[in-house]
Amino acid sequence: MTKLYMESLKEKSPKSTIDQSTIPDAIQDRGKSMSDKDKQKKDSSAENTKRKELTENLKITVRNFNFYYGPMQALKNINMEVVTNTVVGIIGPSGCGKSTFLRCFNRMNDTIADIRYEGDIHIDGQHIFDKNLDVVDLRRKVGMVFQKSNPFPKSIFENVAYGMKINGVKDKNKIAATVERSLKHAAIWDEVKDRLNKSAFALSGGQQQRLCIARALAVEPQVLLLDEPASALDPIATSKIEELIHELKKDYTILIVTHNMQQAARVSDYTAFFMLGELYEYDQTNKIFTNPSRKITEDYVTGRFG
Ligand SMILES: Nc1ncnc2c1ncn2[C@@H]1O[C@H](COP(=O)(O)OP(=O)(O)O)[C@@H](O)[C@H]1O
Ligand SMILES: [Mg+2]
Repeated sequence: MTKLYMESLKEKSPKSTIDQSTIPDAIQDRGKSMSDKDKQKKDSSAENTKRKELTENLKITVRNFNFYYGPMQALKNINMEVVTNTVVGIIGPSGCGKSTFLRCFNRMNDTIADIRYEGDIHIDGQHIFDKNLDVVDLRRKVGMVFQKSNPFPKSIFENVAYGMKINGVKDKNKIAATVERSLKHAAIWDEVKDRLNKSAFALSGGQQQRLCIARALAVEPQVLLLDEPASALDPIATSKIEELIHELKKDYTILIVTHNMQQAARVSDYTAFFMLGELYEYDQTNKIFTNPSRKITEDYVTGRFG
C-alpha cells in the first residue's frame, strides 16, 4: 500500500497557492532550484543561523538532520524551521519517526545505546549537540510531556516542586508561588488547590496529564514537547488539553505529536507530515488540511491510509 503512494507521489509536482511571505524558509525552500539550495547550504554557518533566528523570530532550526538506531535510519535529511510562539503539529503513520524526532530536541535519545545523528538542530541559535552544551540546562529549557501521564508517587505539590528542588531552589515561598503559578498555567489549579498534599495518583487521567504539564512548566522552559499528550484521554479531558495548548503558545513554542487529524487541525499553526523517516510536507496547518502540495499528504490527512 505504502509503495503505491510513493509511486503516485513521484508524479505530482508541488503547487502552492498561499502567501509565500507568511511561510518559514524551510517551507519555501521546497520549491527552489538546486542552485538556490546549494547557495543556502554554504550560508548555513552557526553564526548565520543565529542571526536568522533573531531576525526572523525563529525558535528552532533543523538542518540536514539524520538519525540512526544502529544500522536503521529513523530520520532522513530533515530540514525545518519553527517560529517562536507557534504550535507545530507532527503527524504521520505509526513508526514514521515522530517520537524519535521529538526526543532529539531535548536529547532524550542520548540515553539509548547505539544511536547516531548527523546534521544540526539549533534552539535560539545554540547548537544543541555542541560538546560544551549542558544537557541538564537543555532539558530545563525544553520540557517534555509523554503520551502516558507519569506523575511521581508523591503529592500534587511535590510533583510540581520536584524540578525546582533538584535544581537547588530552597526558598519555600518561591517554591510555593511557582507551584501555584504552574498549576494555574496548566489550567488545573482550581481542581487541586484544596488538596495539594494528596497523592497525584488520586487524580483522573486528564488531571494527571495537566499536572505533568504543570511540572514541566515549573522549571520555566521555553519549548514544550508533547508526545500524543491526549491520546489516552476521554473527549472532555482532551478538549481541556487542547484549550490549554492554545493558551500556552502565548508563552511557549510547542511541538506536539498527534495521531488525531482533527486535533492537529485544531491546535497547530503549522503541520509537519512525516512518513518513513522523511518530512514529506511542512506548511501552515490550514494549507496541509485544505490544499496540500503532495497527494500523499492529502491521502493521509483524509484518512485514506495510516
Ligand atoms: N529505542 C529504539 N531502538 C531501536 N529502534 C527504535 C527505537 N525507538 C524507535 N525505533 C524505531 O524507529 C522508528 C521510528 O519510531 P518512532 O519514532 O517511535 O515512530 P512514531 O513515534 O512515529 O510511531 C520505528 O521503526 C521504530 O521501530
Ligand atoms: Mg510515537
